[in-house]
Amino acid sequence: MNAKVIGTGWQLPAYEADNHYLATLVETSDEWIRERTGIVKRHLAKEETTTSLAAGAARKALADAGLQAEELDLLMVATITPDTDTPSTACRVQAELGAVNAVAFDVSAACAGFLYGLHIADAFIKSGIYRNVLLIGAETLSKLVDWTDRGTCILFGDGAGAAVLTAASEGGIIAQSVGSNGSKWDVLFCMGRPNRNPLHEDGKESGYLQMEGQEVFKFAVKTVPACIEQVLTEAGLSADAVDCYLLHQANQRIIQSVAKRLKQPEEKFPMNIDQCANTSSASLPILLAQMKEQGRLHPGDHLVLSGFGAGLTWGACVMIW
Ligand code: UT7
Repeated sequence: MNAKVIGTGWQLPAYEADNHYLATLVETSDEWIRERTGIVKRHLAKEETTTSLAAGAARKALADAGLQAEELDLLMVATITPDTDTPSTACRVQAELGAVNAVAFDVSAACAGFLYGLHIADAFIKSGIYRNVLLIGAETLSKLVDWTDRGTCILFGDGAGAAVLTAASEGGIIAQSVGSNGSKWDVLFCMGRPNRNPLHEDGKESGYLQMEGQEVFKFAVKTVPACIEQVLTEAGLSADAVDCYLLHQANQRIIQSVAKRLKQPEEKFPMNIDQCANTSSASLPILLAQMKEQGRLHPGDHLVLSGFGAGLTWGACVMIW
């Protein structure tokens, strides 16, 4: 049995901030952001939370799949921006949905979180332990971003995407690979809240996201094509045989570079980074759900999904739609 996506959904916060708005906060310009990243605007949470966005996307995915929340066996939320350190966002979403029969936990793998989640879902489904899985990528990165740092604040957006997977005898995920390299943890990290324990203060100063942008860029353009080539070999497919490559929406130039390395036309690499910016673990499921909604995915299509992020983490999979 393979894990097959049978429903998708997405949800973005109502508030939209364009590049001109960011130019009022930091020294930047619409032109610089568009040219270097492809981003035009992003949605930022004002009223919404990671939990509410996740639940919104999940309800749509369940309706799309024609499944009741009670039928879910496993509910995972890939996120690095939970509303509460504990309990997990997944438990809170479980309560919102009434997914009373599901075991619920979060997956922390930054922008590769959705790929890690697919990996876990596939393993549980293949083993026969669970049948129906809800996987959500949800983030409110706006709360981790330093809004005085132009090197990071222009990149990120908030949102959520969800996919319902079930056991299928045909199609679904046919090959996958995930990887981690913790020795490079410090090229993209967030220390979080300073520790005020009287026995041990940790001296943390910044609780905001910090990034060496060029290091991450170089890692992405090297690792993503290699990882995709690996899963294509495993699936016995050529790059030409793939109908659509859905990549983590981090930077338009990264996506273009991957297309070039794989010798594939850019038209096979759909993008929504212009509208959504980088929503970390939510970027792939939002893109997938929007593609489905727009009727751009057809039964039997060969799709490649790939992402990368802090950790460092990365992953790719091949699925037959
Ligand atoms: O999900 C994974 C998350 N992270 C990523 O994927 C990040 C990958 N990296 C990137 O996307 C790019 O490295 C950035 C978009 C972050 C930066 O683009 P870059 O082409 O690598 O620019 P840079 O860091 O080399 O900076 C070039 C110049 C610098 O000025 P000087 O030193 O040449 O005078 C920066 O200070 O651009 C300056 N700069 C900006 N200027 C206007 C950096 N950020 C901005 C900005 N507006 N927002």
